Amino acid sequence: TTVYVPRDSAAASVGASEVAAALSREAGEQIRLVRNGSRGMLWLEPLVEVETERGRVGYGPVTAEAVPELLSAGMLDGADHELCHGLVEDLPWMRGQQRLCFARVGLTDPLSASDYERFGGLAGLRRALELDPADVVAEVTESGLRGRGGAGFPAGIKWKTVLDTPGELKFVCCNADEGDSGTFADRMLMEGDPFCLIEGMTIAAHAVGAAEGYIYIRSEYPDAVATMRRAIDIAYAHGWLGENILGSGLHFDLFVRVGAGAYICGEETSMLESLEGKRGMVRSKPPIPAITGLFGKPTIVNNVLTLASVPSILSDGGKSYAELGVDRSRGTQVFQLAGNIARGGVFETAFGITLDELVNGYGGGTLSGRPVRAVQVGGPLGSYVPTSQFHLRTDYEEFAAADAMLGHGGIVVFDDTVDMAAMARFAMEFCAEESCGKCTPCRVGAVRGVEVIDKITGGEDTDGNLALLNDLCELMTDGSLCAMGGLTPNPVRSALTHFPDDFVSNAANHK
Ligand code: NAI
Ligand code: SF4
Repeated sequence: TTVYVPRDSAAASVGASEVAAALSREAGEQIRLVRNGSRGMLWLEPLVEVETERGRVGYGPVTAEAVPELLSAGMLDGADHELCHGLVEDLPWMRGQQRLCFARVGLTDPLSASDYERFGGLAGLRRALELDPADVVAEVTESGLRGRGGAGFPAGIKWKTVLDTPGELKFVCCNADEGDSGTFADRMLMEGDPFCLIEGMTIAAHAVGAAEGYIYIRSEYPDAVATMRRAIDIAYAHGWLGENILGSGLHFDLFVRVGAGAYICGEETSMLESLEGKRGMVRSKPPIPAITGLFGKPTIVNNVLTLASVPSILSDGGKSYAELGVDRSRGTQVFQLAGNIARGGVFETAFGITLDELVNGYGGGTLSGRPVRAVQVGGPLGSYVPTSQFHLRTDYEEFAAADAMLGHGGIVVFDDTVDMAAMARFAMEFCAEESCGKCTPCRVGAVRGVEVIDKITGGEDTDGNLALLNDLCELMTDGSLCAMGGLTPNPVRSALTHFPDDFVSNAANHK
């Protein structure tokens, strides 16, 4: 019997490796143990799956101590048990998704080259290699794919800029410095299906004529770093990287680089500085990296999920990808449900699903059981969205019209005990901590922001200081060089707009 136990670090953090060890010890020769990626249902981890004639039957959360009892209850035959959830594919969480980027995550052994090909891997690269670079770019443009790092810039236009910029040497850089709070999809993809990212980057290299690629991974992700490095070695051994890739004549070398813990290195120009071995400071734009990027050469900088979406776009066609989604938000988004939520994890579906469906529907509301008060969408620089706006469809433009942003798809849930003035203060504090220091509105503004919020909540000249805070937010938005200082006012202003009482009542309490 084949038994699957995730090797993903979220599953490992709650004991998956101990469960795997217990299964080997107790069931020994009876089982073939596969360490798969996580299905993304994190509340069920460690989720053990048993291959049966009916399909894969899931048990979770399983502890190492529970393994002997589960085995004697007939787990290897898929027998019922209080921890049994039936067929994993039939769970509402799985049925509700349209997994393109995450199609293989949780199904395969992430480091098995044969699994990868058996589950549709390399079909996109094979097709891309038959096309001219310009036609690959056209396919990506037709798909409507937009940058999944947060800004949502059309990937096809970025790639065309790199393709059209003459240069002997060009680069493809993958931004895997996933620093947003409540986001973990890049990590899960790298740990759960690393070949997919390699394939996406290789297609990008062919599309723009790049010879070298770098994956910049944050140091907080040691398992992702190790998995990507092993996957790259395996890809070289199979002729999927290096010289004459799949017999096409394409030469592409790929390397992993590890960050050192600065949030700002997720900003693309800081990341390039860091890759060049320098301190991660933001560069002024223009010039854009597509024209003057790594070591001054034309460079694609894309997020993990953008690049990992490309293989299926090439294999199934840009047109079919573009059929999913709403308005200008095409294809699928990998949502990450986190914070105070009953069922947290990764949920990939077409754009257009509402916040209510995600948070209260699939997510099951708060873990604490108290009412949801707000969610922060798009990381620490994203707005707080109150429940009165839960009808919002997940769509870049619809969110922007509501002064919010979808960002990298992270949704952090708060219940009614949250103090929104404290959250606003935290936004400024975070900016002060993580600012690269290059421009004054951000470097100094964030420090002043913390002070002025303290004065407001301390009841000191509330009206005057509120006006000052609004002025400061306007200055940071208009005057900052990059999104760090420029977007920090989002959480602050949304807290002020939607939850003004939190600021007032704090002040009143002090008097
Ligand atoms: P941006 O709008 O300046 O640029 C977006 C991308 O388009 C960049 O790669 C830029 O080089 C490229 N671009 C712009 N004009 C172009 C052209 N004419 N041709 C080719 N390429 C062009 O936004 P930025 O500053 O890169 O990103 C801000 C976003 O980052 C925020 O919206 C936020 O959601 C997100 N973010 C994500 C984080 C994460 O952990 N994933 C962390 C912090 C912020
Ligand atoms: Fe650096 Fe902040 Fe200015 Fe960005 S906004 S360049 S992080 S000081």
